[in-house]
Amino acid sequence: MIYDLRLSRAHDNLRLVVGAGAEECASIAASEIETALGERTNPVLGVATGATPRRTYELLVERGVSSDGVHLVLLDEYIGLAPCDRRGFAATIRRRLAEPLGIPPDRIHVPPVGRDQSHEPCEAFERELRDLGGVDLQVLGIGQNGHIAFNEPGSPLDSRTRVVRLSRLTRENNRSLREAGGNDDRAGEVPERACTQGIATILEARRLMLLATGERKAGILADAMLGPIDPEVPASAIRLHPDVTVIADVDAARLLPVIA
Ligand code: PGA
Repeated sequence: MIYDLRLSRAHDNLRLVVGAGAEECASIAASEIETALGERTNPVLGVATGATPRRTYELLVERGVSSDGVHLVLLDEYIGLAPCDRRGFAATIRRRLAEPLGIPPDRIHVPPVGRDQSHEPCEAFERELRDLGGVDLQVLGIGQNGHIAFNEPGSPLDSRTRVVRLSRLTRENNRSLREAGGNDDRAGEVPERACTQGIATILEARRLMLLATGERKAGILADAMLGPIDPEVPASAIRLHPDVTVIADVDAARLLPVIA
């Protein structure tokens, strides 16, 4: 099926790939990531940590993609968890992706969540990204409220890495995910705060890949792709980027106009 995104302002920079289901989307995403990693020495892959890309990461591991010189950059991390807490996003990425692929800890870059809550550690993280040469390919999920990373509705389009308070919906979604066993991590309170890359930080990646699967993402995906580019729907900001691939399954793409 060919989907028409000409209603969106930046249609020629945005490619929509629709898979039959989550498995096909994960396979497409894994193939695109593998290609991107092969295009550069010391490639920098930006990783999201929700449930959606989980199968994609499993496939990268199953396919044994080369991790030679690969750096991983996280979008966000909870504040207030112990460094060894399995619920942390860095711990999750280490367990699911970095350790199975043999990517050492010094090649994993995480937004700062230490005691120093001033801007300085966030600025240092931004410098770290620049020193790496920027992110080559950034994988993104989309929250049910339209967030990307932990940029909740209302986040300025020019926001940079910073400490944020999580919305109730985000905390509830992340809690129910764990209770459903979808994250294989122990149940527990979801922290109230996190450190996240800002929208402007994310838009500096060379390429963006947004993954959305399942019926519950259909409404917000349509808002983000077809509605105004609006801080109230932070994911709509990806349409400002010159090179975006949206990979969605038929359920998530249900409200996007089909032309063939
Ligand atoms: P999900 O989260 O992949 O668990 O649906 C997406 C997000 O919150 O960005």
